[in-house]
This record gives sequence, structure tokens and C-alpha cells, in this order.
Amino acid sequence: MNQDEIGVYIHFPYCEKKCPYCDFNSHITKHIKHRRFLEAYKKDFDYFFCKLKEIPKFVSIFFGGGTPSLMEPFVVNEIINHICTKFDASKNNIEITLEANPSSFEVEKFKDFKSAGINRVSVGVQSFIEEDLKKLGRVHNSTQATNAIIKANEIFDRFSFDLIYARENQTIQQWQEELEFALKEFKPEHISLYSLTIEKGTEFFKLHQDGKLTIPRNQEDFYEITNEICAKYGLGRYEVSNYSTSQNKCRHNILYWTGKQYIGIGPGAHGRIEVNEGRVATMNVNSPEKYLKSIEESGNAIQIFEKLNDEKIAWEFVSTGLRTVYGFQLNEITQKFINTQKLQTLVTEDLLTQNKTHIIPTEKGLSLCDGISKFIFDI
Ligand SMILES: C[S@@+](CC[C@H](N)C(=O)[O-])C[C@H]1O[C@@H](n2cnc3c(N)ncnc32)[C@H](O)[C@@H]1O
Ligand code: SF4
Repeated sequence: MNQDEIGVYIHFPYCEKKCPYCDFNSHITKHIKHRRFLEAYKKDFDYFFCKLKEIPKFVSIFFGGGTPSLMEPFVVNEIINHICTKFDASKNNIEITLEANPSSFEVEKFKDFKSAGINRVSVGVQSFIEEDLKKLGRVHNSTQATNAIIKANEIFDRFSFDLIYARENQTIQQWQEELEFALKEFKPEHISLYSLTIEKGTEFFKLHQDGKLTIPRNQEDFYEITNEICAKYGLGRYEVSNYSTSQNKCRHNILYWTGKQYIGIGPGAHGRIEVNEGRVATMNVNSPEKYLKSIEESGNAIQIFEKLNDEKIAWEFVSTGLRTVYGFQLNEITQKFINTQKLQTLVTEDLLTQNKTHIIPTEKGLSLCDGISKFIFDI
């Protein structure tokens, strides 16, 4: 397995308001303790950095959330400098992404984020339709969404934005028009398009259960039209929900999907690193308060630090690889656990292709990736 690259994920756990569909580790607070977070992030990073068996090529930092655009730019700057110094790297040579919400207060900070070292933003637009933004419980309106994309394009070298489709009562035609507008108007070189998922424990889950929220049943058709339209505008799908031109794929996300290493810091952050004992899965405690306290008292906020056995490594490699156009590598670990007969059946059915080193999903296979992973893994 090629583990020669590494990135750092930084989770910022606060939002202005909780969206009714969201089950991410995000919290609402009146006072964000910026300085305390900065110190905690540094210690959290040092804890994992010291455990690395070797120092691989450092390629990216990703500020995710929650809403990292609520962070103070000086915190972003200091944490980037701290990490780059440890890796002996220049911030100009790596991809540094920040997820931003389109509210005006956050957009005003874009220039300062750029000075801090951010060179790629991913804007959480979700929709351009006023009424639908309200239904999604978003705090921004469509003018702010448009303005955020224009500013992102002006200020940063690279930008992306997210949209959610297959929303309540949305028709294929409405989605087609909205997506075409987005691609024609803003010409993004990267875009993330997620179909609305009803997550357990969210407000939408309750409404859906009570029959007060209906989402389209023809998800497959939404999927197909999404691929067609993106292709028309020169954006190829390289992961189930991610589209880009050939030069603009998100380097950080590719680390996750190709079995590389990433240090995960911040509340609830996940990581995968190589230590002396082998590959480990890490996860910090979710609660921001417990996180700060734990780091301050003991230098880490670990909830899970699990050495992965070969079967778990193979499963992650296969199930994440099949979500992408890269597929997964046939090596001694994956070959031990996949059912080769079933694999061949799927090759015959044109869902997978095989070359000397990799198993790669076809366009059709990509849409059925979760089922395919389980099938060839005998789950
Ligand atoms: C965790 S959010 C962080 C970004 C930012 N806080 C925001 O909401 O704009 C990352 C992306 O996940 C997507 N997302 C979150 N919950 C979702 C759900 N239940 N169904 C589909 N997409 C979802 C949204 O497109 C969102 O932009
Ligand atoms: S702003 Fe993003 S992270 Fe925060 S609650 Fe909404 S979807 Fe979740």
C-alpha cells in the first residue's frame, strides 16, 4: 500500500445555527474561545505528529466543520505555521482548504484567510433558490450565496462550492435548471453535489418519519442528470459526489480515498496514521468543552486509538477506493479478503474494470459502489 503522503484535517465544531438535516459534529455557542482552541490544536497536532513512524510527503491541510469560516484568521495563520514548521514545509507548496459559509460576515474575512495561508475555499451554498434555502434552514440567502462565490473566485487561487439536490418536492427539471445556472454563471473547476440524506437524530429525520417531509424517490434519475450536466461543462466525476476539471481535484480528499495518512485534530476529528505498531484509526472526543479540557489536562483528547488489523485495512481500502475513479489497489492485503469470483462476475457485468494493479469502478459501478464493496467483501 502506498502510504507516502500525509495531510492534516482540522475540525472546527461551531456554527451560527444548526441546520435541520445535519448530523455533523457541530455546536452552537455564544462565545468561541479562539485562543484556547489555537493552543489545543497545536498540542493535539504535536501528540499525533510525535507518533508517526516516518515523515511522509506533506501535501495538505483541510479546515472542516462545523463552520471554520467562523474562526479568527490569526488562529488559522498560527496553526498553519505551526504544522508547516513541524513538517519543514512551505505553506505555498501545499493545498490548504477552508470550508466557508456564505454569510456576509464570513465573506468579509476571505482576504485575511488568504493572508493566513488558505489557498482553496469550499463554499457551502446548498441552493440558489430563496425558498429552498429557508426550507434547508440556512442562515444565508441566494444573494449572499452568489456574492460568496464571486468573492471566492476573486480572492483565492482555487474554489469549490457545495449544492444539495433531491430536496423536498424538487423535480428533475428544477434541479437541472439550478445546476445549469450554477455551472454557466460561475464556471467552477470543482463542485461537490450531494443528494439530500435523511440522517438519524436530525430534525429532518423526525419530519420524514412523521410524513411531513417528502424527498424524491427517483434518486437514480437525479444522479444521472447530474453527471450529464457536469460532463457538458467539462467537470468529470472523480468521486461519488465530487466533480472537477482534470487539474482541480481536491488533493486532501484524495488522501482519504486512496488509503494515505491523515492526522485528524479538533473535536470529533478522525485520523489514519502509521505508527510503530502499524496503521491506526484515531478519533477525538466530540464535545468541544471536553476536548479543550482533555487537551489542557493531558495533552490529547483521544477517544479511539485503534490498531487496524489487515481485514479492517482492506475493507477501508476497498470501500473508499470504489467511491472514486481511482478504484483500489490489488495488493497482498486487499487480495486476501476480496472474493475474486464475485469480482470477476462484476467485471463481466461491466460494473468494474481490472488492470494489472487496480480494480476500478465503471461509471455505472460508481453509482452502486456501496453495494459492490459489500458484495465482493462477502458482507
Ligand atoms: C458538514 S458541511 C460543512 C460546511 C458548512 N458548514 C456548510 O454547511 O455549508 C459539508 C457539506 O456536507 C453537505 N451535507 C451536510 N449534511 C448533509 C445531508 N444530510 N445531506 C446531504 N448533504 C449534506 C453539505 O453540502 C455541506 O456543504
Ligand atoms: S452550517 Fe454546515 S456544519 Fe453547521 S449545522 Fe449547517 S450543515 Fe451542519
